[in-house]
Amino acid sequence: MLLRLPGLIDPHVHLREPGSPHKEDFGSGTAAALAGGFTAVLAMPNTQPPLTDQASLALAQRAAQSKAYCDYALYLGAGVENVDSAIEQSHQVCGLKMYLDQTYGSLRLDSLNVLYDHVSKWPHTKPIAAHAEGISLAAILLLAGLHSKPLHICHVSRKDEIILIRAAKEKGYPVTCEVTPHHLFLSEEDIPHIGANRSEVRPRLATKKDQQALWDNLEFIDCFATDHAPHTLEEKDSDNPPPGFPGLETALGLLLTAVKEKRLSLEDLMARMVTHPRRIFHLPEQPETEVQVDTGASWEVRAANFHSRCGWTPFEGMKLRGKVRQVTLRGNVVYKDSEVRASAGYGMDLMFAN
Ligand code: NCD
Ligand code: ZN
Ligand code: ZN
Ligand code: ZN
Repeated sequence: MLLRLPGLIDPHVHLREPGSPHKEDFGSGTAAALAGGFTAVLAMPNTQPPLTDQASLALAQRAAQSKAYCDYALYLGAGVENVDSAIEQSHQVCGLKMYLDQTYGSLRLDSLNVLYDHVSKWPHTKPIAAHAEGISLAAILLLAGLHSKPLHICHVSRKDEIILIRAAKEKGYPVTCEVTPHHLFLSEEDIPHIGANRSEVRPRLATKKDQQALWDNLEFIDCFATDHAPHTLEEKDSDNPPPGFPGLETALGLLLTAVKEKRLSLEDLMARMVTHPRRIFHLPEQPETEVQVDTGASWEVRAANFHSRCGWTPFEGMKLRGKVRQVTLRGNVVYKDSEVRASAGYGMDLMFAN
């Protein structure tokens, strides 16, 4: 059966520009997005240099403008040096990204002072997105609550975290959150099969109990986000493997398989991959945009067939349901028969729409 869906939105991807185009760039990353049924991606600022000021932001904007195949927006990174200036870039970005825990790259904040100032100075109009695990999550929830700033919690992975977010939501805190397919479909029990090095990801793969708690609290999860974090196979298999999984080309297949197995409704999926991310990040509608998915087709995950440059996936060999056949973006067929049909630079920065 051919299913027609609106273009999916991924609020958390790493496209590695500027600085690491050997892992991914705006071309390969947005090609992977289209192959996965996404027509808009929100790109993270933990690049080299990190996107914390006008000059670094301009590097990413220029690369994206010339290469992107699908629509996108960029996050500004919260650093120690841009507490006073971040607001100047706020109109050009989809949100302010803060890293409070172990991650990849140099953008990690560990002073309460700096956190407090960033939260109090950032405008109310755009969300603050936070990588905040465990106790850091409690800290950022309080700060955002004190200042009534919209807070979006990235890649929630554990039971204690989703329970805390649920409690905050029930108290009326301005908080939303996302969960990744890898935390929904994998746990620490899969590490031996994937391999210890390749399994490195932040937040780490959690226990079966944590994984079940995410499914049990789906009602409190606003978005599905891939946290597409490509690193090459050579890097993953080295002595010092960087954390991160690619995810753009497996997310929809995994989630549609869950729909097929009745663990999720199609409505719940669409809310978390279209309506909610659009609302949370104030993204404009994409007119004449549609993804055609063959729901009857099953396929086996093979990284060799992917558009991402990283060359591997933790889901290698898995059999999934639902194949993206064609993607139309703003009136043009941009992806068909496993190939990108858009020209480089067709994608637009959604923060500069109209
Ligand atoms: C991300 C990356 O590689 O940029 N890695 C990861 O394990 N998720 C960083 C992040 O999202 O924290
Ligand atoms: Zn993170
Ligand atoms: Zn990430
Ligand atoms: Zn809803």
